[in-house]
Amino acid sequence: IGEDGQKVSDSDFRGRYLLVFFGFTHCPDVCPMTLQRIADALEAAPELKDKVTPLLISVDPERDTPAAMKEYVAYFGPAFRGLTGTPDEIAAVLKAYGVYAKKVKLEGSALDYTVDHSSFIYLLGPDGRFITLFDPQQDSAALAARLKETVK
Ligand code: NI
Repeated sequence: IGEDGQKVSDSDFRGRYLLVFFGFTHCPDVCPMTLQRIADALEAAPELKDKVTPLLISVDPERDTPAAMKEYVAYFGPAFRGLTGTPDEIAAVLKAYGVYAKKVKLEGSALDYTVDHSSFIYLLGPDGRFITLFDPQQDSAALAARLKETVK
């Protein structure tokens, strides 16, 4: 489900490279740091900006409404898209990508729970096929360099 509540399919993105990251808006560290590195990599390589769409898919569909995703991804730049879904829809996407995500109860915290999740960045081609994974820990310069090698 897209930022305005619309149904979204992978085929909507054909013709563009997709950098897909799975995370959630309440994530305290890994998600915002990784999304910022993606934003910086694309900022450093303007030739990529026309071809690559960065996409966050929620691993926390209970809290991540379309409006919450819209507000969150806008923080990283106008190119970012943020998708959520019903718990069943999200579970199907996580399974398809082999993403690990698990709710962990936070005792005594106003946040109630967090979500442990794997954090690889997936690069998909304009035909929708998987190309490669990027290590989320690499800095934005390394990510930009690897993208420039791959995105034609
Ligand atoms: Ni996270």
